[in-house]
Amino acid sequence: MSRKIKIFDTTLRDGEQTPGVNLNIQEKLEIARQLEKLGVDVMEAGFAIASPGDFEAIRAVAAEIKNVTVASLCRAVEKDIDRAWEAVKNAVSPRIHTFIATSDIHMKHKLKMSEDEVLERAVAMVKYAKKYCSDIEFSAEDAGRSRPAFLHRIFQAVIDAGATCINVPDTVGYTTPGEFGNLIKGIMENVKGIEKVDLSVHCHNDLGMAVANTLAAVENGATQIECTVNGLGERAGNASLEEVVMALTTRKNYYNFTHNIDTTQIYRTSKLVSSLTGVLVQPNKAVVGENAFAHESGIHQHGILNEKSTYEIMTPESIGLSQNKMVLGKLSGRHAFEDKLKEMGYTLDQEAINKAFEKFKELADKKKVILDDDIQALVEERVSQIPEMYQLVSFQTNSGNKVIANGVVELRREDSIITEAATGDGPVDAIFNAIERAVGIELKLAGYNLRAVTGGKDALGEVTVKVENNGKIFVGRGISTDIIEASVKAYLNAINRMMSEIN
Ligand code: KIV
Ligand code: ZN
Repeated sequence: MSRKIKIFDTTLRDGEQTPGVNLNIQEKLEIARQLEKLGVDVMEAGFAIASPGDFEAIRAVAAEIKNVTVASLCRAVEKDIDRAWEAVKNAVSPRIHTFIATSDIHMKHKLKMSEDEVLERAVAMVKYAKKYCSDIEFSAEDAGRSRPAFLHRIFQAVIDAGATCINVPDTVGYTTPGEFGNLIKGIMENVKGIEKVDLSVHCHNDLGMAVANTLAAVENGATQIECTVNGLGERAGNASLEEVVMALTTRKNYYNFTHNIDTTQIYRTSKLVSSLTGVLVQPNKAVVGENAFAHESGIHQHGILNEKSTYEIMTPESIGLSQNKMVLGKLSGRHAFEDKLKEMGYTLDQEAINKAFEKFKELADKKKVILDDDIQALVEERVSQIPEMYQLVSFQTNSGNKVIANGVVELRREDSIITEAATGDGPVDAIFNAIERAVGIELKLAGYNLRAVTGGKDALGEVTVKVENNGKIFVGRGISTDIIEASVKAYLNAINRMMSEIN
């Protein structure tokens, strides 16, 4: 019989450690809801002691998510564990995930503790956490570079102390699939009682081997995979959820494992995470990249037309990638629009449907044919809306190859209207300068990206900006068929996000 592999998603914790990513509570909740739809077994909602924002977000996720275990990370320290429990205690299925480093390098240079001291602390903290919660995960940080004999000893001890899941992180993405598989095999053979707990792996992608290492681990006995949507995470990121899941699914004939993931939710989850984090997916990324199902060569196209399986090992439909076939237009009514939202898997409340319908009508005036990707962009724009301290009233730009670009913006703040003008190096720079004058803050533009949501000259343009203020990055997103307008909306979205955090 096939063994079931649990999927532990850490997009909201390790994924949020991606440089430049900073999600607010609403955004984390939206991702958590989508992860629940996707069918993950465990979601790590954050690191409770890291910041009040992290703590509140975990609490909000724990209160709302019903069908997934909700975990908080914590160091093997009493005050961290107290905070983690406070954050997850209202979850239907809470988990405390505590960790301490076990490699010689980390113990000597970071912890300044001996093996015996680390083991003693790990046992004491698992026992401490167990007073609160029955589900305790213990991670041996930098396990990939730890002495296997020490790992066996510490895992044995924490299982005896009550840990229900043992995690083996390759924290710095150093191991190779052969090595990592052997490490897991050794743990299976040398740790008494390992079969009674979950054996988890958490692989980083520094050498591009996170997915391969993860799969080698499950072949050798691991029962839980830690991963992130789009492979987000510290430095080069973590094993990508969509890649490990589709490898297990597409190659079931080889791996013979099952999982709980509804793979048709993969594409939507990837898009949502990309748009909320502002981290774009590389076009040639496996499974969810723009080119993952594109066939360029004539020979390939010919093969596909005759028989899809010639060059397609999985179908776009299996990850929920619509063919953009079903089209709505100017004359489509509310019913057709609502049906479309349902068919796309959205469950929005009436207010959200009304807003999305309004935007759909506006768009239909400008764009002949509305595709699924347009609707997804409209719905996701709603998710990234936050309280608007500054609202756009109007803007105007003037540019050309013989004039100095200039822009004028009119913003509303409460009851007053602020109008400012500025010049710049092109229309986007000019209008951004005018906005900065209007809000009275100088910002650093840390990133600007423009993509066309669909093909065609009248396509919606989606702009993602990253602005930096006092060392903190704020992401903003805007969509419009006019790319300057999309840029203005994105810049204001980032500024309003910054304001809502400051106030
Ligand atoms: O990479 C790592 O070691 C981690 C642990 C804290 C699980 O993220
Ligand atoms: Zn990690």
